Amino acid sequence: MKITNICCIGAGYVGGPTMAVIAEKCPHIKVTVVDLNEARIAAWNDEDVNNIPIYEPGLNEIVANTRNKNLFFSTAVDQAIDEAQLIFISVNTPTKTYGTGKGMAADLKHIELCARQIAKVAKNDKIIVEKSTLPVRTAEALKSILDNTGNGVQFQILSNPEFLAEGTAVQDLLHPDRVLIGGETTPEGQQAIESLVDVYANWVPKERILKTNVWSSELSKLTANAFLAQRVSSINAMSELCEKTEANVNEVAKAIGMDSRIGSKFLKASVGFGGSCFQKDILNLVYISKAFGLNEVADYWEQVIIMNDHQKRRFSRNIVQTLYNTVSGKKIAFLGWAFKKDTNDTRESAAIYVADDLINEQANIALYDPKVGHQQVLADLDYLDTRKPADNEKHIHTFDNPYMACENAHAVAILTEWDEFKDYDWKKIYDSMLKPAFIFDGRNLLDAEKMRAIGFVYQSIGS
Ligand code: UDX
Ligand code: ADP
Repeated sequence: MKITNICCIGAGYVGGPTMAVIAEKCPHIKVTVVDLNEARIAAWNDEDVNNIPIYEPGLNEIVANTRNKNLFFSTAVDQAIDEAQLIFISVNTPTKTYGTGKGMAADLKHIELCARQIAKVAKNDKIIVEKSTLPVRTAEALKSILDNTGNGVQFQILSNPEFLAEGTAVQDLLHPDRVLIGGETTPEGQQAIESLVDVYANWVPKERILKTNVWSSELSKLTANAFLAQRVSSINAMSELCEKTEANVNEVAKAIGMDSRIGSKFLKASVGFGGSCFQKDILNLVYISKAFGLNEVADYWEQVIIMNDHQKRRFSRNIVQTLYNTVSGKKIAFLGWAFKKDTNDTRESAAIYVADDLINEQANIALYDPKVGHQQVLADLDYLDTRKPADNEKHIHTFDNPYMACENAHAVAILTEWDEFKDYDWKKIYDSMLKPAFIFDGRNLLDAEKMRAIGFVYQSIGS
């Protein structure tokens, strides 16, 4: 089937950028992104393209090029489903917060709702593409709903996991290491795969488009994220050992990264990984493994999360201990709240957990993040449900100026590796702080010698 009309359900961090790039690279395809969230769709349609709801370098330009030409954002879900030949599902699949599998399994209720809606609306054959990260065998569930509630319409289900990383989404989409498409081995399944291959082939070299069976594709996504997260937990585990010895984790990372079998990427010790994928996907893997009775496999991967939780906790504990065992009533400046630089996404950000620990110790947090505002910060803390929202509000203040956040602070904690932090006038910050002035650099971002020369008591991760 030659694809000329695509619908994407879910206008989030995955659906938005992915569809924008497809629209940019395939001017002959009409792409409609739909979402139930009216405010989000309104923001995507905002006249000023700088107000789109997702911050990603380069995204606003692509949206400006394509919006209302062949890229559309809408809340008219049924109409878009009806018109499309190919439907991407990119709705969120958070970890369940209730019932069986609570805290581990993925909550598939949004996916199921999409399937039921597609089944209700579709009048002709369609290809359904899973884009969200899903636990293995979701396609099976999707197929069962579609085949049993549809109007005799034929559905082909493909798994096409997204490997983009936030902050570099546009570049990752324009130049992917690989595109993975899983489908059924039947002739119809293979035809559906080819239809999607033809879409990507508009800009991705064919040899980078991998075709597999559905289960391999779904599992590859979980495996990729588990391996990446494992690297971060591995170097973070070494960081604690480095702190107790004379080693420097940055030097260790460089030394091992030059081994071409290990490679240099994803070896940055940090306050802990965050983001919507790593923890969720590993928990999924753990859940699936346990469901098959593979307890050793489950325990092996769970340790990656246990290490990450330990890393976050150890960072906040160190702040308290270093500040003479009490932060009660003290002003601690936080630079950064997003889970990494160049995104406004805060899901599972280490900053949330560090703040939560410090608020338990009655600290006052003064926060600056270039892309995250007060409401989001409060929402993240309230979501943890540790204390009453009013108490979170009492302990956290956000500033739109980093120098004001740091003024009269006892310590600065760096939680996100935003480039601009490196260029601040640190002497000016030092002068405005209480003495001794501490920096806890959770991203090993600043130059230790320079900071110490200014007068800071500077601590980084892993040295
Ligand atoms: C990840 C995968 O990289 C991507 O392929 C997948 O599609 C979604 O999940 P993302 O979560 O957007 O992407 O960001 P990523 O760059 O992987 O970083 C995840 C977390 O690990 C961040 O909190 C980051 O700061 C942290 N990290 C990463 C480190 O602490 N050290 C590193 O060396 C690398
Ligand atoms: P991701 O990082 O996976 O893209 P987001 O939470 O950023 O996750 O985006 C998912 C989007 O999917 C949200 O904007 C949400 O409103 C939307 N969504 C969830 N369920 C449905 C549904 N049944 N129909 C349409 N949109 C949905």
